[in-house]
Formats: sequence, structure tokens, C-alpha cells
Amino acid sequence: MCGIVGYIGQKSAAGFLIEGLEKLEYRGYDSAGVALLDVEQEPLQIIKHQGKVAATAAAVAAIKPTGTSGIAHTRWATHGEPSDRNAHPHADCRGTIAVVHNGQLTNYQALKKQLTAQGHTFQSDTDTEVLAHLLEDFRKNGDDLVTAVQKTTQVIAGGTFALVAIDAATPDTLVAACMGSPLYIGLADDGLFLASDHRAFRAHTDKSVQLKDGQMAIINADHTYRVVTFDNHQSPHDIQQLKYQLEDIEKGTYATFMEKEIVEQPDVVRRVLDGRSTDDGMVRLGGIETHPEFQSFIKKQLHDVLILGCGTSLYAGETVARFFQEHGYEVQAMDAAEFATSSFQVKPTTLVVPMSQSGTTADLLVAMEKVKAAGAVSFSLVNVPGSKLTSYGTGMYLHAGPETGVASTKAFTAQVLSGALLVLALAQESRLNAPHVAAFTERAKTLSFAIEKILAQSDDYKKIGQSLKDVPRMLYIGRGYGLAVAKEGALKMMEIARIPSLGMSAASMKHGPIALVDSETVVVAICIHDPKVPELYDLTVSNVEQVLARKGRVIIVAEEGDDRVATLGPNGQHPEAVISVPKVHYGILSAITTMIPLQILALAAAEVRGMNVDQPMNLAKSVTVL
Ligand code: M6R
Repeated sequence: MCGIVGYIGQKSAAGFLIEGLEKLEYRGYDSAGVALLDVEQEPLQIIKHQGKVAATAAAVAAIKPTGTSGIAHTRWATHGEPSDRNAHPHADCRGTIAVVHNGQLTNYQALKKQLTAQGHTFQSDTDTEVLAHLLEDFRKNGDDLVTAVQKTTQVIAGGTFALVAIDAATPDTLVAACMGSPLYIGLADDGLFLASDHRAFRAHTDKSVQLKDGQMAIINADHTYRVVTFDNHQSPHDIQQLKYQLEDIEKGTYATFMEKEIVEQPDVVRRVLDGRSTDDGMVRLGGIETHPEFQSFIKKQLHDVLILGCGTSLYAGETVARFFQEHGYEVQAMDAAEFATSSFQVKPTTLVVPMSQSGTTADLLVAMEKVKAAGAVSFSLVNVPGSKLTSYGTGMYLHAGPETGVASTKAFTAQVLSGALLVLALAQESRLNAPHVAAFTERAKTLSFAIEKILAQSDDYKKIGQSLKDVPRMLYIGRGYGLAVAKEGALKMMEIARIPSLGMSAASMKHGPIALVDSETVVVAICIHDPKVPELYDLTVSNVEQVLARKGRVIIVAEEGDDRVATLGPNGQHPEAVISVPKVHYGILSAITTMIPLQILALAAAEVRGMNVDQPMNLAKSVTVL
């Protein structure tokens, strides 16, 4: 949460900084700001505004700054309301040192009290501002900026941060430090960058250095840079070549990133499967094959499985958990934050499977520290290459490509399918015969065509979504694999269309939520045949009858050829829409085919309600605070 950009070079910094902020706006959009060093004018120009980057961009454009170094920030508010005053960058008392920061400083209140007592004047309610005043004190005492930042990192020990500092007294240098929040250096011909995500500078270079926790970067106007530890020793680092192209992080012809990402799902499925099965259909995962110790764990110790995730990743995890169960594993999927704060312990025989699009979700990373401390084995499913989650145990990449819309879509599909491959890869060692695995991988290869068929019906689903414009509340119900889909469908509708929506087991509706059903309530029911549990379909259908009997409005997601669902209900009270998806013969694959129309429904409902689809209110893409 929050996006940081820094630039230093021989060219005007403002354009690079604003462009970077626009690319990072998915990380937070409560306010934005820049601090620029322009020796021709004021020593340090700070321009910041509440609201989207566009407001700051317009103010910067009006000033036409020519400074060749600067720092910038787009904020998701943690400490202090979204306002001009609380927008970053924050400056010291003299306005000559400025700081941008992503993370949380746990001891900032004590520091603020102490600094105020020493005579410092604070302008904002943020935790970040203490950094500027600490730097001011160290600089006053004769430390150079690098030493001042190093000493500051000691004082704020315990917090999480990625920070960049600029000082009018040393205009040729920017200094950054990193602990628990991502930070990258961009090595471009046009100059050097610092950013929370390399997307901020991808238009200018494909060369990047990812800072590790405990590292600092000093980047200079003469195009040199150093990476050192917090105690000023040279620190090893790799220059990474970014593999994605610029068009992967741009909307192209689509109105929203979310729509683009929904449409990409057939390709995502192909990428997930690519190179992960042998000619005879057995699953092969690099994260297992190249880790003999993990193979030995699977064969000799593995007893049970714990899946951890948050939001969409948790629902994908619940789907994968059911597939583990089908293959005889003792398994549970838990909200990572709940696990982290519970007395629940993992055993040396537990395989932990953390799932995350970003790989930086703070709740999950704290949970993984608990897993690490317990010495448990983990296998991550993660989308963003090199993200913090990849530093725990082995794992596999989702290959979904950059996901920018705050509402997660293609990552859900990639997580469910990747999770299925993991289950088969583990089970084929001990519990499964080859034909079973081969039958699944053959069927999975047809999934991309099923999704293309679904996407071809998008206009019809959009009309259904638009019909939800004034709906006051929605329930999503499902059983078996439909349960996690119901929860995920409701999450999508809530976060982008802002229609209060509950996702639940169709069975549990009668234990309370059915009290909400009336002629204004829309109930979305996932009615799919699960070959392993045939009774689920009839049970769900009878729950739909209970809604129709109470005059609820019903939308059904069913399989092609299911003529029964349209006729449910008493005369004149039938479902108002039936969404038909291709049969995919495996419950876990049906979680993907049934979810995609619900993504489209939420998208269309949000658009017709005039919502900002990609940047929904109060949210940010990567949740890096607890
Ligand atoms: O990056 P992660 O997958 O770890 O993110 C987890 C959740 O924050 C995320 O899925 C969130 O719930 C999405 N906004 C849902 O669309």
C-alpha cells in the first residue's frame, strides 16, 4: 500500500515522477505528492494534493518545474485522514529534507512526542513525518545523508518501511532504505529510479535491482549507485531483467484493467499448464523437481496441509482445499491473519501452502514468519516474481501476468488451476494412478476453450449485471465447489459495485440470511453437478426454491444443457436469468468457469452504478499493512 517513486539524472524529474505515480496508483489513491529539487528556484518544491494522482499532476504541470531529482508518493491512508496535509512527501522543520514512505512505524508516537519536546513542529498526523525530523537532527549533528538515514533506521527498528529521502544540501543524491516493504532501483539511460514496483520505470528500462530487507540504496546524478547494509557495508545485489512488456501493464483498448484481465484468462490457463505435464500427462513442477529435500518430505513426512491466504486468494485456497480433500488429504484453508493471531500451530509434518497474487500481503507475511519459526515446510503459489513470499520455502509461479485492477480476477483462475496441479503433483507420488492424473491434465487443457466460450457471451452477462443497478442487497449461494465461488462472487460485487453482498453456503442461508430475502433482494445461485457428490445439485436447487417462494429475484449459474433451472419456482416466479457455462467434468475446474461470469456481472454492475472499477473506494491492490 502506497507507491513510492524517486528519480535522479540529467533530465527534468517531474515527468518521470508523475508517470511513475500513475503506474503505481493501484497501490493507493487517497492523495499524491512530489518533492523536487530545482536549483534555479526554491531549494525544495513540495506539491501535494488529496485525491488521485491527476490532481497533483495538474498542479505540477502548472509550475513547470525543471529540477532533475525528486521523490514522489501515492498514498493509502493509515495514520491520518486523506488530506493535503497528510499527503507525502513530508518535510523537516526547515523544508530542506523530504521523505516518502511505505509501511508502518510502530514506535512513531513515542518518537513524535520526543521530537516535539525537542522543539520540532509537526504539520501532519502521519507516522512518516517523524522520519523527516529524525533526519533533520542527525544532519544538524554533522552526519551526511547516508549516515543520517542509517541512524534513522536504527531508531525506527521494529517498523516496516521502504523510504526515500532527498536533501537540498546534497542535490546529487537520493538515499533509500528497505525493511518489509518492496523497493526497486531502475537502471535507465535517462537516469536512475527508485520505486515500490518496477512498473513505475518499466517504460524507461528493463533493468532493475530488487532491494532486500536491511539494504539501502544510494543513487547519484552521475548515474552511479551503491547498495549497502544498514551498517554501511557493501551488500551483494543482482541486476534483474524484467520479462514483461509495457503493453502488459497498460489498458490498451480496454476501458478498465479489470476487463482486460478478465479477457486474458484463456491465456492465463495456457501459461499455467505450459511445460507442467509430461507427454503421458503426469504433472511436473519445477518447485518440486529441483528440491530433493521437498521430495523427501512428501514421501516420508507429509501428513496434513494448511492453506493460507486473504480475500480472493483465501477463496481460491478454499477451492484447492476441497481438491486436496478429494485426494485423501487432511487439509484446511485459513485466513492468514486469523492463523497469525491464533494459538493454532503447524507441525513438522504439515505442508503450508501460502497463496497470494502480490506476494506482499502483510497478513500473509506475518503468518509465514510464524510458519518459519515453527520450522514447517511450505510451498507458495504466488504471481509476482521475486516478491517477499518467494523467500519462504519452495513454490510455483502463477504466470497470470501483472494484475493491476484492485479486484482480483485472473489471479483467482491461476491460483485454482495451479493449486490443482500441486495436489496432483503430490498425490501422484503416493496415492494416484497415472491414468487419473493424465485424464485431469487432458481435461484442464480444454479449459481455455471453455473460458473463451464464456467470454463470447460477455454482452449477455453484462446486461444481467446492468439490471442490478439499483439492487439494495445480494446473496450468493453455493455448495461444494460453489461455496468458495459464492464468497468470491459476493466479494467482487461488494468491492467494485458497492452493493452489500453476502456469499455463503446455500445450506446456511436458512439459518439466518434468508431473513434478507424479499422482492428486492437478488440471490445468485451456483447450481452445478459435482460428479463426486451428486446430491449437491438437488440440495442447492431446493434452496433456490426457498428463495423463489419468498419472491426473491434469482440469477442461476448452471451448466449448458440444464433445462431444469429455468423452470424452478411457483408460476410467475421463475429465475430471472440463467447463465450457462460449459461442462468441465471436474468440480475444481467448474469453480473457474462459474466464477468468470460473476466477475463480468460485478464489472457491469459497477460500471452502470458509475463506480471506479479499477480503484474502488477505500481499497488498494497490495495490502501491505496489518
Ligand atoms: O495479493 P494477495 O492475493 O495476497 O491479496 C489478497 C487480497 O488482498 C486480495 O485478494 C483482495 O481481497 C482483492 N481486492 C480481492 O479482489
